Amino acid sequence: MAISKIGVLGSGTVGQTLAGGFLKHGYSVMVGSRSPAKLADWKKNAGDKAQTGSFSQAAAFGDLLVLAVKGTVAHQALALAGEKNLGGKTVIDATNPIADAPPENGVIKFFTTLDKSLMEQLQAGFPMANFVKAFNSIGNAYMVNPDFGIIKPTMFMAGNSEQSKKDVAPILELFGFEVEDMGKAEAARAIEPLCMLWCIPGMLRNEWAHAFKLLKK
Ligand SMILES: NC(=O)c1ccc[n+]([C@@H]2O[C@H](COP(=O)([O-])OP(=O)(O)OC[C@H]3O[C@@H](n4cnc5c(N)ncnc54)[C@H](OP(=O)(O)O)[C@@H]3O)[C@@H](O)[C@H]2O)c1
Repeated sequence: MAISKIGVLGSGTVGQTLAGGFLKHGYSVMVGSRSPAKLADWKKNAGDKAQTGSFSQAAAFGDLLVLAVKGTVAHQALALAGEKNLGGKTVIDATNPIADAPPENGVIKFFTTLDKSLMEQLQAGFPMANFVKAFNSIGNAYMVNPDFGIIKPTMFMAGNSEQSKKDVAPILELFGFEVEDMGKAEAARAIEPLCMLWCIPGMLRNEWAHAFKLLKK
């Protein structure tokens, strides 16, 4: 099926940034929130192909979904989206399992362990959806066609459904990334902590303008 409609579950900076990226690339987008009315200004400025709605409406709308909510509430947001609306859909999971505890010497804390990532928990909780981890290992300012000169940053992805990764890879390329498929959902155990690494220069030195690149021979 051709993917033309994107449901974005999450109305924060990441949800709005990725929604803007999809709109820029010609997709129709519905951004979901518990309070869609607060997105009236965003909708007004985002053009004809932009809509807002509840989590459930956004999930029903999308051929493909993006999950961009606070990690601690990801299960709740998916429950609000509704199992019926998630059925058979690819969900790009941009979340990170950041704990509410403060960082330690610039290292943010996670509520997960290295043996069970957030995405694995979401995949187990919502088996009717196909989660693909992506967009979590870069700051929102660099999520859509970032300019690092001649170098294309790497976007790591992982997920159990090969078809879903086939659907997501061209989107990541369209958004300006070289795609590295790191395998099944367990790989999120390694991809999610890249967020910690990415944030350290920012936390320590207020340096936030970087992206990861996997060098290969
Ligand atoms: N900020 C970045 O640069 C960056 C980069 C990579 C990955 N990430 C990850 O992307 C995700 C989104 O980050 P963000 O900074 O855009 O926003 P955020 O503040 O982490 O999350 C905002 C979203 O969470 C939803 N939410 C909060 N409490 C909820 C609840 N109890 N039930 C359901 N939904 C709830 C909000 O819903 P309402 O719309 O209803 O308020 C809103 O849509 C996070 O997991 C973050 O770690 C962030």
